[in-house]
Amino acid sequence: TNGVTTIDPGYKNTGSCLSSITFLDGEKGILRYRGYSIEELAEKADFLEVIYLLIFGELPTQDQLDKFHADIKSKSVVDDDIKKILDAFPKSAHPMGVLSSLTSALTAFNPSSVNVDSEEEMYNAIIKILGKFPVLVAWTLRKKQGLPLDYGDNNLGYVENVLKMMFCKPNESYVQNEIVVNALDKLLILHADHEQNCSTSTVRIVGSSHAGLFASLSSGISALWGPLHGGANQAVLEMLEAIKEDGGDTKKYMAKAKDKNDPFRLMGFGHRVYKNFDPRAKIIKVAADEVLANLGVDDPILDIAKGLEQEALNDPYFVDRKLYPNVDFYSGIIYRAMGIPVEMFTVMFALGRLPGWIAQWREMRERKEPIGRPRQIYTGENLRPFVSVEKR
Ligand code: SDX
Repeated sequence: TNGVTTIDPGYKNTGSCLSSITFLDGEKGILRYRGYSIEELAEKADFLEVIYLLIFGELPTQDQLDKFHADIKSKSVVDDDIKKILDAFPKSAHPMGVLSSLTSALTAFNPSSVNVDSEEEMYNAIIKILGKFPVLVAWTLRKKQGLPLDYGDNNLGYVENVLKMMFCKPNESYVQNEIVVNALDKLLILHADHEQNCSTSTVRIVGSSHAGLFASLSSGISALWGPLHGGANQAVLEMLEAIKEDGGDTKKYMAKAKDKNDPFRLMGFGHRVYKNFDPRAKIIKVAADEVLANLGVDDPILDIAKGLEQEALNDPYFVDRKLYPNVDFYSGIIYRAMGIPVEMFTVMFALGRLPGWIAQWREMRERKEPIGRPRQIYTGENLRPFVSVEKR
């Protein structure tokens, strides 16, 4: 053998790196970005501050924040030819597939971004993607809706500009809804990083071959797309809708989730690390009540979600397996109340996770991590002689 004695499927017990960006304690339900608690950041910071904090390690002064935002705005133009790639997609294309392709395509229009050997080159690549990604996010929605693309407004805040590009109507001035701006800002903060989750590990391992930042991020978007990961926020709403259509019979779906022969899972429940509660889910659940009340939205889906949570909290199958609502369980209810279509939910997750992917990728490159290349235990055929096709 090659000396490998144990295999760790899904890396459940493997640490891949040293990192100083995000701290999780799964038992205590603790999440901190660069030492600041997620509760304080969600309450007191805004998303652009958190982007700066995750990437550069400190909360920015006002001057640093203003310069950072100005630099990002100066690089927010997306090459017009990217629109030709966008146009080539059918309207039915899932926005995550479109976003992953457009993000990878950015390399073609910004070839210099592949070299990040100097701090300046690294900084330029980072502000380019922070400027262009929100445009691509908005364009995936506009494509789906058959609406003309919007280039944003550099006089707006970072999150306000995303909303304007997503929702402005042609030939109408766009009026910001403060409730929506604040809710999206908080949701993006809550999604911003989560140590070595599947998509972040993907970004790090792709980047470890010294593939460019945009190519690495494109891979992370693909990993996030899966329903077991970021795609769960879309799957949760589809599940809740199915339960509503089925007369709100949560008991039937709880039974399906426990039935080993039924592939159905209670989407939005369970987590590899959190074994008591996901602190983000607690914050989002409170926010869901507030946002829907402030927007005057009465969505029966929220009551179904709360009913499911209550049942699961009292069900031995879930309690024994320490299955609790995760970040994806309530987030879609808020996105929907904001008028974001369900197939865009995971794109919103990607927008939130962008700074975390960037910070982790930068840390991996700055620390000159070796190329990711695990071994295996071989279980295939022993040596055997070739047989010509006549004799097979
Ligand atoms: C995210 O890693 C991160 O930090 C991810 C994330 C981030 O911010 O990056 O937090 C974002 O991806 C949140 C998770 C979103 N996914 C879902 O909500 C999909 C549903 N959840 C599951 O598929 C599952 O709980 C995972 C993927 C989240 C975790 O999977 P694990 O750690 O590999 O756990 P497992 O599949 O081995 O399950 C352990 C047991 C099994 O039962 P037994 O075989 O022991 O009898 O719990 C059961 C599973 O069948 N189980 C569930 C369940 N989740 C686990 N049973 C019913 N419904 C579920 N949701």
